[in-house]
Amino acid sequence: MAEIRRYLSHYPADRQKSAILPILHIAQAEFGGWVSPEAMDLVAEILNIQPIEVYEVATFYTMFNLKPVGKHVLEVCRTGPCMLRGSDQLIEHLENRLGCKVGETSADGNFTLKTVECLASCGTGPMLQVREQFYEDLDPASADQLLEDLKALTVRKPWEENY
Ligand code: FES
Repeated sequence: MAEIRRYLSHYPADRQKSAILPILHIAQAEFGGWVSPEAMDLVAEILNIQPIEVYEVATFYTMFNLKPVGKHVLEVCRTGPCMLRGSDQLIEHLENRLGCKVGETSADGNFTLKTVECLASCGTGPMLQVREQFYEDLDPASADQLLEDLKALTVRKPWEENY
């Protein structure tokens, strides 16, 4: 709530709705990496707006997860330039390694595999994003190494120390 109040202080009292994106990010991080209907209702209550206004935003942006996810969410770019540089092969490799399809979570709960549109790193594709971090020029070997590194990583929230 302290972090939410900090964002709300950036806007005039009658324009607090403008803080909806950062507050949804906080809700997602705070409630296990996804925004449930209850979490969206809470965001609406905090912003003093209708729940439908929160649902509209959360369902529009792919960075918000609407169902439970694994410890790490792999967001693989599948747009043209990355596709030309092998994103299809990367996605297939990750599906085989993780034993799950795009949109699913691995059985060990460590990874959810998603595809997203251009992340503005077209010259270094194929690439994927995990939280705020980009991983670029991936091939099967570096993707496997990334999975191992992520498994060992302690996940912190952006506002926590040593993030
Ligand atoms: S096409 Fe993949 S980052 Fe732009």
